[in-house]
Amino acid sequence: MQTFSCLSTQTLAWTHRGQDPIHLNPRLLNSTFMLRSSPLVSAVSTTPPPPSTPLINTHHSLPPDQVELFKSLESWASQCVLPFLKPVEQCWQPQNFLPDPTLPFDEFTDQVRALQDRTAGLPDDYLVVLVGDMITEEALPTYQSFLNRLDGVRDETGASLGPWAQWIRAWTAEENRHGDLLRTYLYLSGRVDMEMIERTIQYLIGAGMDFGTEHNPYLGFVYTSFQERATFISHGNTARLSKESGDPVLARICGTVASDEKRHENAYAKIVEKLLEVDPTVAMLAIEDMMRKRIRMPAHMMFDGRDPHLFDHFSVVAQRLGVYTANDYADILEFFIERWKLEKLEGLTGEGKGAQDFVCGLAPRIRKLQELADEKARKKASSGVEFSWIFGKDGVNQD
Ligand SMILES: [Fe+2]
Ligand SMILES: [Fe+2]
Repeated sequence: MQTFSCLSTQTLAWTHRGQDPIHLNPRLLNSTFMLRSSPLVSAVSTTPPPPSTPLINTHHSLPPDQVELFKSLESWASQCVLPFLKPVEQCWQPQNFLPDPTLPFDEFTDQVRALQDRTAGLPDDYLVVLVGDMITEEALPTYQSFLNRLDGVRDETGASLGPWAQWIRAWTAEENRHGDLLRTYLYLSGRVDMEMIERTIQYLIGAGMDFGTEHNPYLGFVYTSFQERATFISHGNTARLSKESGDPVLARICGTVASDEKRHENAYAKIVEKLLEVDPTVAMLAIEDMMRKRIRMPAHMMFDGRDPHLFDHFSVVAQRLGVYTANDYADILEFFIERWKLEKLEGLTGEGKGAQDFVCGLAPRIRKLQELADEKARKKASSGVEFSWIFGKDGVNQD
């Protein structure tokens, strides 16, 4: 699981059938998380930035009938979702891509040197994006907690035998390899400031995240479908760029992680597809709801103790390198409209049809925002931003 939305810096004001979908949570205003616009947040801050659009996420929005319906899908989940997981013995492990410490010392250090030779040519801005991706993967505890808050899905005992609980644990275990591998590879490269990266991870896990999914598995699995596809795209692009920069091993690493994300995307998309089949209106409304809230990628609370706008700065670099862009966000939406056959969905109530119209007409509006994001990236590209992760070097302008 992973990454960022370049739309995070855009203000989207679509209202939710007359309701404002974004509410300020007054409790947050009194917490250590001060608003970004607050004068108390200086250029050098010791407090992490707050969520840009705090959401009230304390209620359980799925009615009991729908929770029961969800629970009734357990045998289907066993047959159709759990097979997307791979047995441990068939899974790759980080060590498969790393210098082998069981070799004689000289051979091991030769492998480390070869890694450092390969990574020496990686541009600084590429490293910024790769580090941001890795940090996002490393905040995995936040994502497992998120899944365990979903009604009808959560792992009630911590070792429950139900298929949803099994999925949560095994998905987490598969994802855990992503951050481990990227982190170790970056550490061995000697190109990045591991202490600042580790602080950022600690801040990010400590900050948590409100995904806006209200304990609701319909909303939750729409979110994870989008998010896994976003990470599939992002890791796929970092694979392409590392190949172009002369590190085929790193390309294989990013490509392998991307293929995991794709498999997970397929599982989550299949769940939403099933919900659209058995409960089309509620599922369609869930898709609309998440689109109106906007899918916020999990690392938007990242902070390194120095840059209160770290995520925005990171997103600009990702946008400029084409690793993840506002256009990708629109592509993902169009992909799922097609994948879930939303335009042809039948059996909807009037409200459901309204949601269908909104979602199916949204991509062009998002693409317009692409132009704004491009403009912002161009402006930022010439301003120069120092990233602590690469020892304070400018991660926008390449060396
Ligand atoms: Fe993932
Ligand atoms: Fe991942």
